[in-house]
Parts: sequence; C-alpha cells; structure tokens
Amino acid sequence: MPTIVITGAGRGIGLATCKAFLSRGYQVIATYRSANGLASLQSLPHQAGQLQCFPLEVSDSHAIENFAEKLRGQTVDILLNNAGVFGGEAQSINHLDFNEWKQTLAINTIAPIELTLALLPNLRKSLSARVVAISSQMASLERNQPGYYAYRSSKAALNKAIQCLAHDLKADNIVVCPVHPGWVKTDMGGTDADISVNECVAGLVPLIEQLSMAQTGHFLQYNGESMSW
Ligand SMILES: NC(=O)c1ccc[n+]([C@@H]2O[C@H](COP(=O)([O-])OP(=O)(O)OC[C@H]3O[C@@H](n4cnc5c(N)ncnc54)[C@H](OP(=O)(O)O)[C@@H]3O)[C@@H](O)[C@H]2O)c1
Repeated sequence: MPTIVITGAGRGIGLATCKAFLSRGYQVIATYRSANGLASLQSLPHQAGQLQCFPLEVSDSHAIENFAEKLRGQTVDILLNNAGVFGGEAQSINHLDFNEWKQTLAINTIAPIELTLALLPNLRKSLSARVVAISSQMASLERNQPGYYAYRSSKAALNKAIQCLAHDLKADNIVVCPVHPGWVKTDMGGTDADISVNECVAGLVPLIEQLSMAQTGHFLQYNGESMSW
C-alpha cells in the first residue's frame, strides 16, 4: 500500500486524516509534538506495523534533517504538510506581535517547503508522488478582508512558494498543491466553523488520493473545487 507522511497529526485535521488513511490500508508516518498527540495517534485503529510516529517540531531545521534521516531509503507517496498555527491574538493594526508573526511564517510558510525538500529523495522513489500543503481561504488575495496579518500572510506566502515548487518538481512528475480544508471545527477553527472534521476528511482524503499532474500548482478546496488565489 502507498505511504503517506502527515505532519501535526496529534490532533485536529491531521489526526482525522491519519485515521482515514489508516482505515484505507495506507502505511502512515505521523508526526506529533506532545505526549497527548502520540497517545491519540496510538489509539487509532491500525494493523501492526502500519503506523509509525515520530516527534517533529516543523520549525526546527535540525529536527527536519533528523526526521528525513530516519526515513532514508523509504518511499513516500504522499506528503501532507498539515501542521500549522493561527499566529496568536495580536494580529490587528493596533496590536501586532512581530515575534509571533515571524514564528508563524517559520511554521506555516517555510517549514512545508523545507520538509518537502528534505523528503525529495523519498518522494522521487514513488511512481505517483503528491505533496499537499494545507493552506486556507484566508490566504486568498481576492478576499479583501482586514486583520489576521500573521495567518493570512503566512498562508498567502505558502501558496506562492508551493506554486514555485509545483513548477520546479514538474520534471520529477511530483504533484504539488495547496488545499483549503474548509472552515473546520477544530481547536483552530472553533465551534462556529462550517464543517466537522469528518466532513472535511470525507472530501480531503479522496481528493488527495486522486490528485494527478493535471492539477499540479492548482489551489484547491477540500471538496475538489478550485479556490481563488
Ligand atoms: N480549522 C480550520 O478551519 C482551518 C481552516 C483552514 C486551514 N486550516 C489549516 O489546517 C491545518 C490543521 O489545522 P487544525 O484546524 O487541525 O488546527 P489544530 O487543531 O490547531 O491543530 C494544529 C496541528 O498542527 C500542529 N503544529 C502546530 N505547530 C506546529 C509546529 N511548530 N511543529 C509541528 N506541529 C505543529 C499541532 O501540534 P500540537 O498538538 O503539538 O500543538 C496540531 O497537531 C493548519 O495548517 C491550519 O492552518 C485549518
């Protein structure tokens, strides 16, 4: 069965996608940060040897190198760059925390690219490699709305970097897409969000499974529709 790497898999959308890919028989390599995250992953139904869990702080370059070293020689068919942060409370014109903004850029924008490049040898071994970065409708330049400087800018910059990566990895036949998962009821999305994690995953998982080179570089939504840049 294919192998998928999922970051930030200890809760929220990451945990739910792990559960779905495990139930479909995939080999799942899940990264987490906390003991709670690891416990949640280990409690997911799975076959012996089907789930590998590794601690990974995605903004730590050294940790990314170590993680890639542990996977050396393994084929990775899908990399789901899911780990992300909202960027804290101070995101309005009168109240900006620049250090938190820099950290948000490190986690949401740079880490997905750094991890993808670190796992490129693994992705190149796949006959159908796909890299998905979980982005957001809040990145869209057409949604001309105020506030949330750190989050909006980090996901907009992620989109641009992912678009560049899609061009650069065309020759390797690697599909690369940013995907908006919907506004989802998680710790980040909150209880007022539009859809449950299960509704998100019911769209996101088949979308990821069916991605082809025809879609590389496209900004998509979890339900397969395109998202405006
Ligand atoms: N929920 C929504 O409505 C929504 C909408 C659009 C996009 N998204 C995006 O979807 C992705 C998942 O969000 P979610 O709603 O599931 O959020 P969540 O419930 O807050 O979960 C975030 C996940 O990312 C991990 N994470 C955060 N910073 C990390 C870091 N520096 N290194 C490694 N892992 C880190 C967290 O790990 P810990 O448990 O260790 O903190 C957690 O597993 C994010 O990229 C988010 O921006 C969400």
